[in-house]
Amino acid sequence: MQEIIQQLADKRAAATAGGGQRRVDAQHGKGKLTARERIDLLLDHGSFEEWDMFVEHRCTDFGMADNKVPGDGVVTGYGTINGRLVFVFSQDFTVFGGSLSEAHAEKICKIMDQAMKVGAPVIGLNDSGGARIQEGVASLGGYADVFQKNVLASGVVPQISVIMGPCAGGAVYSPAMTDFILMVKDSSYMFVTGPDVVKTVTHEIVTAEELGGAITHTTKSGVADLALENDVEALLATRRFFNFLPANNREKAPVWPTTDPAKRTVPSLDSLVPEDPSKPYDIRELVLKIADEGDFFELQPAYAANIVIGFIRMEGHVVGVVANQPMVLAGCLDIDSSKKGARFVRFCDAFNIPILTLVDVPGFMPGTAQEYGGIIKHGAKLLYAYAEATVPKVTLITRKAYGGAYDVMASKHLRGDVNLAWPSAEIAVMGPKGAVEIIFRKDLGDEEKIAQRTEEYRRKFANPFIAGSRGYIDDVIMPRDTRVRVCRSFAMLRDKKLENPWRKHGNIPL
Ligand code: HXC
Repeated sequence: MQEIIQQLADKRAAATAGGGQRRVDAQHGKGKLTARERIDLLLDHGSFEEWDMFVEHRCTDFGMADNKVPGDGVVTGYGTINGRLVFVFSQDFTVFGGSLSEAHAEKICKIMDQAMKVGAPVIGLNDSGGARIQEGVASLGGYADVFQKNVLASGVVPQISVIMGPCAGGAVYSPAMTDFILMVKDSSYMFVTGPDVVKTVTHEIVTAEELGGAITHTTKSGVADLALENDVEALLATRRFFNFLPANNREKAPVWPTTDPAKRTVPSLDSLVPEDPSKPYDIRELVLKIADEGDFFELQPAYAANIVIGFIRMEGHVVGVVANQPMVLAGCLDIDSSKKGARFVRFCDAFNIPILTLVDVPGFMPGTAQEYGGIIKHGAKLLYAYAEATVPKVTLITRKAYGGAYDVMASKHLRGDVNLAWPSAEIAVMGPKGAVEIIFRKDLGDEEKIAQRTEEYRRKFANPFIAGSRGYIDDVIMPRDTRVRVCRSFAMLRDKKLENPWRKHGNIPL
C-alpha cells in the first residue's frame, strides 16, 4: 500500500511539474503563466477538481515510448466561478508544446461530454503547437473529435475560448466554433497558415502578430471578441464575462443583486440626440445610462464599430444589447456589422437572454465593395437572426429607422414584443433629402421648391407617429424615462413563451 501511495505521489508530482522547470521558466520568460497557474486564477480558490491527471499518450514512434508526462499536455476538470459550475481545459505548453495527441483530445472530449450532461459551460485555455507531430493521423482524428463535440455543445452550453499562446492550422477551428474568443495581446496568435507558408504561397511578408495576433483578430477579422493585455487580465475578464452567461440552454442567466432602482429616470438623455439630424452622438452613452450601475460588458468594441453589442443587466437580469452606433459610418448596416450583430442575436436567443435593440440606422451601406462582398446574404443574417429569435425583444428607435434597416432592427414585424420610440424618431423609407430627390426629380435644380418639398416630407414622415398610428410603435416615450420603460417591458416579458415551428434546423443564409 505504502508503495502505491508513493507511486501516486510521484505521478502527481510529475504531472504538476509539467515539462520541467526549464520549460516553466521559458513560459514565464515569455510573460505567460503555466496551465495550472491559469486555472488557479480562473476558478474560485480551491474549487478545481482535476480529472485524468494520469493519462499518458500511446505513441511509440520517434522515441516517444520513454518520453511521457502524466496528463499529456492538458489539464482538465471542473470547478466554480463565483460559485457557478464550469468545466475547463488548459493546454500545457511546457509538455510537447501543448500539442494535441489522441489522449490529450480524449481528455478534452471527456469534460465536454460531462459538461453537456450536467449543463455547465466549458472554458478552453488554448496554448498549443497544434497536432502532435509524432502521432500523425491519430492526432488529426483527435482534433476532429473535439470539433464534433464543439458542434454538439453549440447552443447547449456556452463555450468560451481564451487564446493564450499559439493556435495554428486546423486547430483554430475548435475555438472558431465556440461562442466567444478572448485573446492575449502579443503572446497569442491564430492563423490557418503561418507567416512562412504565406510567404511561399502569396509572397507576402508578415509577422505572426500581424497575421493573427489579438489586435488583428479584434479589429480586422472579427474572429475574436476581446484583446486583453496579459494572462491575468484575460482570466479576470473571463471570470467577469462568465457572470453574464447562463449555465445552459434551459436556464436563464443568473440574476445579480442590484441597488440601482428600475424607476431611475435619466434627465440627461433628453438632450442626447442632437438637434441637427446629421450630427452623431455616442450610443454607448445611452447603454451606460440605462444599465444597472452603468455596467456594460461590450464585445468586439473595435471591430465593425458601427454596431455595438454586449451585455448589461436591468433589474439584475441579463440583457443582450444590439445598438447602431451613429459615431461610426453614421450607424449604417454593412457586411461586418450585420454578421457581428447576427451572431450575437443568435447567441442570446440560444441561451434565453432577452435582447434590447437600440435603433439609429440610416440604412444599408451602399457601394460596389458591399454588393460584391455579398451584403445581400450578410444583411440577411441579421434579419434572419432577429426573425427567428423567440426571446423577449424590446426595441427603441432613438432617431433614424430608414428603409430595410428599419425592418431588420427587431421591428414589430419581426415579432418585436415592445417597440418604443423617442420623439426624435424618424421612421421612413429613406431620409427626407433622398426621398425628395427621387419623387420630385422634375423639380431638381429649383432649390426653393426642393427645400419646400424636403421640409414637407420631414414634417410628414420624419417622426414616430405614422408608425405609431399603425401600431408598429407601441409608445413614444420621453428619453429620460427609457430605463423605467425598458425595465418594465422586460419584467412584463419575463415569462414569455413563443416557439417556432418544428424543423430539423433552419437554413440561415451563411
Ligand atoms: C510535438 C511540438 C509541437 C507539435 C511544438 N512542440 N509543437 N511537439 N508536436 N506540434 C514541442 C517542441 O518540439 C518543443 O519541445 C516544445 O514543444 C516547444 O516548442 P518550441 O518550438 O521550442 O517553442 P517556440 O519557439 O515557442 O515555438 C512554438 C511553435 C513551434 C511556433 C508552436 O513549436 C512550432 O512551429 N511548432 C509546430 C507547429 C505545427 O506545425 N503544428 C502542426 C500544425 S498543423 P522541447 O522538447 O524542445 O521542449 C495542425 C493540424 C491540426 O495543427 C489539424 C486539425 C484538423
